[in-house]
Amino acid sequence: MGGDCKLKLLIMGPPGAGKGTQAEVLIKELNITHVSTGDMFRAAIKEGTEMGKKAKEYMDAGKLVPDEVVVGMVKERLSQPDCSQGFLLDGFPRTLPQADALSITLDQMGVVLDGVINIDVAREKLMARLTGRRVCKGCGASYHVIFNPPATESKCNSCGGELYQRDDDNEATVSNRLDVYEAQTQPLIDYYKGKGLLFNIDGDQDINKVLADILAVLKR
Ligand code: AP5
Ligand code: MG
Ligand code: ZN
Repeated sequence: MGGDCKLKLLIMGPPGAGKGTQAEVLIKELNITHVSTGDMFRAAIKEGTEMGKKAKEYMDAGKLVPDEVVVGMVKERLSQPDCSQGFLLDGFPRTLPQADALSITLDQMGVVLDGVINIDVAREKLMARLTGRRVCKGCGASYHVIFNPPATESKCNSCGGELYQRDDDNEATVSNRLDVYEAQTQPLIDYYKGKGLLFNIDGDQDINKVLADILAVLKR
């Protein structure tokens, strides 16, 4: 894939696979922009926008926000100047229509995708990861009460922000999110494999080992 600049990447994987955890470090290492649709919806909810209110209903039920809403939001985000330095799309696309829409958008922008990182973790590991997750209110960093605890209880290591539990990280919602992932998002693995863009990463390893594996495939 070569080069150290302007990479255009996707990071995929089931809820709790570690997309956000890895993205946080990768964007600094690669100097590219993090575009997380989940984070964008949570920001809209916090701001109290109409779109945020709509999205929250779907998110709390563990369902996907309708394609046209997500696609419009991502299109507009990718057209912003900071995305021209390269980007890491996290949590998008999640359906085949979203993947097709992305492909058309990138063609129109004259942008070529460099690769798709797929973090692979078995379903039975994900419930514990998600119900034990804590997120920083300040910077959005992810922690885990057992697997990745902060140095000081309930405080973010990097910004000192307060940690909270996401509304959709309860057992019932997580279970729906995992079903939705299997039905609607998993097919994208073959879609990108068919395009020769897929890099499979074993996500059931130490956080630092997962990162090292990702950086290794990107250097190839
Ligand atoms: P989104 O925010 O994208 O949630 P998600 O895809 O369910 O993924 P998560 O953020 O839960 O998991 P992650 O892989 O980032 O894991 P993390 O690194 O935090 O989307 C939320 C909702 O928004 C969706 O349900 C949907 O409603 C809507 N939405 C978003 N995008 C959409 C789209 N394109 N279309 C339609 N709707 C959309 O790690 C998880 C936990 O595990 C943490 O506690 C972490 O510390 C721990 N952990 C991480 N790595 C490891 C490791 N290697 N070993 C042990 N523990 C680890
Ligand atoms: Mg995430
Ligand atoms: Zn923080």
